[in-house]
Amino acid sequence: MAEKIILAYSGGLDTAVAIRWLKEEKGYDVVALTVDVGMDRQREELQSRAMAAGAASFEWSDVQDEFVRHFVFPAVMAGAQYQGVYPLATALSRPLIAREMVAAARREGATAVAHGCTAKGNDQVRLDVSVQALAPDLAIVAPLREWAMDRESEIDYAHEHNIPISVTKKSPYSIDENLYGRSIETGPLEDPWTEPPDDVWLWTKSPADAPDEATYLEIGFERGVPTTLDGKATDPVDLINSLNKIAGEHGVGRIDTIEDRLVGIKSREVYEAPAGVTLLAAHGAVESLVLSKEQRRFKAQVAQEYADLVYNGLWYSTHHQDLQAYIQSTQRYVTGTARLKLHKGTVTVVGRKSPRSLYDFALATYDKGDEFDRTAAVGFINIWGLPVKVQSQVQPMEEFKE
Ligand code: ARG
Repeated sequence: MAEKIILAYSGGLDTAVAIRWLKEEKGYDVVALTVDVGMDRQREELQSRAMAAGAASFEWSDVQDEFVRHFVFPAVMAGAQYQGVYPLATALSRPLIAREMVAAARREGATAVAHGCTAKGNDQVRLDVSVQALAPDLAIVAPLREWAMDRESEIDYAHEHNIPISVTKKSPYSIDENLYGRSIETGPLEDPWTEPPDDVWLWTKSPADAPDEATYLEIGFERGVPTTLDGKATDPVDLINSLNKIAGEHGVGRIDTIEDRLVGIKSREVYEAPAGVTLLAAHGAVESLVLSKEQRRFKAQVAQEYADLVYNGLWYSTHHQDLQAYIQSTQRYVTGTARLKLHKGTVTVVGRKSPRSLYDFALATYDKGDEFDRTAAVGFINIWGLPVKVQSQVQPMEEFKE
């Protein structure tokens, strides 16, 4: 009997061809597994195409809820943005997809897993490292790293082998999408000087076409977790979907960046993440009231470390557990509400409140009710500036020159 392999199957040309290739070239019985992290795909269509391509069976795993609760929300709590801009939608999905591949392999008694990643990207690293961490006994096959087919030869191969492929006009882009965001690469985007053509955007309106009137939103958090939208308790998946819709309508969440991949390549990346950009702004607004100056400074460093770790595929590592423990601890008083204004491509925090706020009106006000001890200021400055004063006497400074 042939050995079984679990193929992470997206329904695209690459993975459809991979089904037949794994069967014919490698002699596997192929289980096509689609892990649904929130994609615009039809289950029946994917299943019939997989079977027609030669799969032994098809599995569909809906992990949207789990994705949001255990991958997206922790990243929001961390404040994670790779290189300061990318909310990590694709990167966050990979460890979960790997986990589902391993679970399917165990259920089916498979000896190997496969995916459609190329040799140049980050996703191969994230999937391989995650599978190795969870199930070191499983073999990993990556057809696109092995075969020498370009897109044309893949299409020829599909025709020769009667593999049904969607006949829709070929998009010049490579796209990955899930609830938390869309990642768009290649085609005209490969020239970093070229403005992204209008057809890359699917979730966000152009700011020029966005409504003239702003929309105000209130997002509530409990211990760092987003729980309410405009005062109403909201299911995690619904919250993300709603924010994508509302913020996308206002043109919020477009990101165009040059990114440094783990494999050493600089690449042009375009993202749409309306919910992500909005949530990160809201969460940061509540944190700004609740966390001390030192916590905010140090947590920003942890956020960078965390973002790099997620980007670099090290989800299943003890370093992740340690960072996670710190982040979790910082969230114990991050309960409160942010008020946001969405308008013409921007999201602006216009209000924030928390029962645990450290903001003290009586200390901050310049009006009546000021309780700040003004007599203490001079003494404080004398001591704060003391080292500088001593230094300037012993080590006179040359004037700053241009
Ligand atoms: N550069 C992004 C990342 O590494 C997006 C990758 C998109 N993946 C894809 N298979 N098209 O997370």
